[in-house]
Amino acid sequence: MNTVLKIAALSGLVFCQTTLLGAPLYKKPKLPVETRVEDLLSRMTLHEKVMQLNQYVHGTNMNLHNIGKIDDHYPLEAGSYIYYSQDPKMRNDLQKRVLKETRLGIPAVFAHDVTHGFRTIYPMPLAQAASGNPELVEKVCAMAASESRLSGTDWTFSPMLDVARDPRWGRITETFGEDPYMNSIFGVATVKGYQGNDLSSPEHMAACLKHFVGYGATQGGRDYRQTDISDNDLWNVHLVPFKACVDAGAATLMSAFNDINGVPSTANRHTLTEILRDRWNFNGVTISDWASVSQLKDYQSTASTYAEAAVQSLLAGVDIDMCSGCYSSTLDSLVNAGVIPIKRIDDAVRSVLRLKFRLGLFERPYTPEISRDKRLMTPWNLSIAEKMAEESMVLLKNDQNVLPLSHKKIAVIGPAATDKRAMYGEWFSHGDIDDATSLLDGIMQEFKGVAEVMYAKGCDFDGEERSGFAEAIKTAAEADVVILCMGERGNWSCENNSRAEIAIPGIQRELIKEFKNSGKPLVLALTSGRPVNLSDIEPVVDAIIEVWQPGIRGGNALGGILSGRVNPSGKLPVTFPRTPAQIPLYYGIRRGARFSPHGDYKDIPSTPLYEFGHGLSYSTFEYGEITADKTQFKQNDELTLSVEVRNTSDRDGAEIIHWYISDPVSSTVRPIKELKHFEKKYIKSGDRQVFTFKINPLRDLSILDKNGNVIIEPGDFIVSVKDKTIRLSLE
Ligand code: BGC
Repeated sequence: MNTVLKIAALSGLVFCQTTLLGAPLYKKPKLPVETRVEDLLSRMTLHEKVMQLNQYVHGTNMNLHNIGKIDDHYPLEAGSYIYYSQDPKMRNDLQKRVLKETRLGIPAVFAHDVTHGFRTIYPMPLAQAASGNPELVEKVCAMAASESRLSGTDWTFSPMLDVARDPRWGRITETFGEDPYMNSIFGVATVKGYQGNDLSSPEHMAACLKHFVGYGATQGGRDYRQTDISDNDLWNVHLVPFKACVDAGAATLMSAFNDINGVPSTANRHTLTEILRDRWNFNGVTISDWASVSQLKDYQSTASTYAEAAVQSLLAGVDIDMCSGCYSSTLDSLVNAGVIPIKRIDDAVRSVLRLKFRLGLFERPYTPEISRDKRLMTPWNLSIAEKMAEESMVLLKNDQNVLPLSHKKIAVIGPAATDKRAMYGEWFSHGDIDDATSLLDGIMQEFKGVAEVMYAKGCDFDGEERSGFAEAIKTAAEADVVILCMGERGNWSCENNSRAEIAIPGIQRELIKEFKNSGKPLVLALTSGRPVNLSDIEPVVDAIIEVWQPGIRGGNALGGILSGRVNPSGKLPVTFPRTPAQIPLYYGIRRGARFSPHGDYKDIPSTPLYEFGHGLSYSTFEYGEITADKTQFKQNDELTLSVEVRNTSDRDGAEIIHWYISDPVSSTVRPIKELKHFEKKYIKSGDRQVFTFKINPLRDLSILDKNGNVIIEPGDFIVSVKDKTIRLSLE
């Protein structure tokens, strides 16, 4: 058929579709998404397709690492924006122009980093993992989704699933800690909370799994560095949470900054296509990290031009170029020159259109403009934020049961007491620190009418200024107990904020030591986004509460724990080393060639200060023996293990129990123990609860080989909970 005839035939088809059958197929909401995607794709020019694969910014970026600006010259055909406003109107105005002024009127999708709340700020993800309560995390994320979507954000760049085993790395606070299973469980809870059952609901948004993959293994805990990851670790550690969240239906995924063994994650066809698309059947959107396409030329230098960078990234499997402009400036000509096959462009555009249809943007491109008080910081949302903060704090030490307090005069000392910024951490989206209850305010509210609360700052987070010491010492002298609110500033962790020493700065430690011989009980309320080196402080204080970066209601939560109104229940999702010289130090190491202490450092201890899973309660719990419905089994059987836990104290409390497996004989060297299940239950004083672990052998006892294939080997397995163990035998 000649070209004129083809055009005539095509326009005839379009005429049929639009005129005889009513609206074009893609505009018919009742048709399956895939039909709509194909119909729309068939109508798009190459340039329109290419523009769907670019993300720009709208509004002013608050993230210092990626400064963006208000841009008045948007290419209106752009597929998506990072939206830096909490006002739906600004988004709607832009969307109106997109719909009216572009040929096909394909709605734009608006994204933002909502990582621990939009306006209502919850504890950082690392703290959330300490709660042992994925159901609560799901609620928190559903709240965050509602605030976001109703304010114009359809898509968040969260959850972060990088398994992080180096507390020096600033971004450890954005993760769910050091364990792949824990990252999986909290990752899935986060995805479910954001996305709900229906992405098109006006109160849910799309999740984005990041950073694919291995970013948490960045060398030396520095940010943006290389990673060298064995196939064993790739499959059994770093990919694990991503697989779980892909299976849970996450809509999008972001490639990482790091390279793995020399291949940049943003140009890694093996991970982005062979694993993610071909093996896992992911059909969502893949997006680069901020400018990680241009960095292939600018820094990692696997490309010598931006066009080459675009080719490497797109052909590896990255659909959208976040803010580097490489795709928009090169893809049209690369396709015309035959360097990039149109099929790859079409597949990438399909993913983007699919997301937009799933989000319901063709039916409801605008965000309803409802008043702020109806969408932000509702009382229910604030109460969830408080509960999350209560459950995420970890009681690390409580000598002589100094807590809960029964003292009548309480001195609160330290820079973190009034510093609300320390409570928000980073990436706090549209949070306003003035909304937060400071630690001091929380303590004052809690003890109002019960005890006298006095405050002296004493010193700043860092620096040399000691002029406040005298007043702090005087204030402490008048009190019966001293609460030291100390630790890290809010911006000392997160992206590009790695720290080598991970100690509280010297000035705060000096002040703490001033109270050493005061005879007063000392309680450290520690603000931090990472495990902290407490080597010289831990012996000085009687009690330590890891407060983390607890969000908007952190002060209320701390007050509740100090008074005993709240019984602490958090457990560490990450190991606290005694000194940074021990790093890397995490529980899931593989069996060594000789038994510890052989091979350990001779000049420092080999044990952590606080191990993964550590966390005290005001209650005491007694564990029974583990029982099993069978101990001999075949690989397709299901087994149920149980353990009874008794609350032997006079206080109601919650206990999180961790179930570990170990494989005493295996063809590859496996970790000494591996977390496979955890559960939190409330147990009334004097009462008991039965915890169960249903073992699916293929899922829970296997390991993946270097190609990602499941290996399960007959023989014995040991399952343990605390100091209780049971031996099982696979035929
Ligand atoms: C971070 C991502 C983030 C992106 C967009 C990057 O610098 O690595 O985690 O989602 O910026 O703000």
